[in-house]
Amino acid sequence: MTGTRRMLVAGNWKMNGLRADGEERAAAVARHVAGRDAGDGPDVVICPPATLLFPLAAVLGGGPVSLGAQDCHEAEKGAFTGSISATMLREAGCRYAIVGHSERRHGLGETDALVRAKAAAARGHGMVPIVCVGETLEERETGDTLEVVGGQLAGSLPPDAAGSDVVVAYEPVWAIGAGRVPSEHDIETVHRFIRARLEERLAAGAGVRILYGGSVTAENAAAIMAIPEVDGVLVGGASLDAAEFCRIMDAASEMLAKAAQNR
Ligand code: PGA
Repeated sequence: MTGTRRMLVAGNWKMNGLRADGEERAAAVARHVAGRDAGDGPDVVICPPATLLFPLAAVLGGGPVSLGAQDCHEAEKGAFTGSISATMLREAGCRYAIVGHSERRHGLGETDALVRAKAAAARGHGMVPIVCVGETLEERETGDTLEVVGGQLAGSLPPDAAGSDVVVAYEPVWAIGAGRVPSEHDIETVHRFIRARLEERLAAGAGVRILYGGSVTAENAAAIMAIPEVDGVLVGGASLDAAEFCRIMDAASEMLAKAAQNR
């Protein structure tokens, strides 16, 4: 983690949760955040299924826990059955939108160009896109991780993005939902590489937050967030348990408190 960028803890609920348990979980997270001193902890965002955006916006009530979408269509409106546009997501209260998650890149064949268009649409409507990148197991084993991640970054980041209006999430495909994570050294290597690419490509690349995602839990979160150039985490499975998600937020808060003491 690095002092000037604000830590971010994001929960991606994926296709899980009906209204009652979603509202309860979001309320528990909001209560937990309300219990800490203002400005003390990380930024927190919850990305529920689209059906829960409006009810959760009511639960979160514009408070410190932000709402995010799991995807965002690139077009403003039109004949795109089943899709949701950035304008609609904004109206539902989203401040962030995940784009290019591997479950969409690999499961639904989304290309870098499409991910870039989605990120641009999100930004164009005042949301912060969380642009996901990451290699498959095969790509890691053949030593192609940095090339793959570099290619995804080059192809899917809006070229005029800067600083706080975009977030990058490094999520190795083989670590997602798998119960295993790369070594700290491997995470650091990829994050340093992403930082260097961001600084080369973007005016304020040094201000872009880089999250790690893939089997983050309350047990490993503190160690992961202590790795240089890791500015927070994108959490899937463990975000479905409010108590565990709160412990991950606490790990970030403790780290920020320690950093403040050492300053
Ligand atoms: P996981 O998912 O934490 O369940 O591995 C992370 C993600 O896909 O964003």
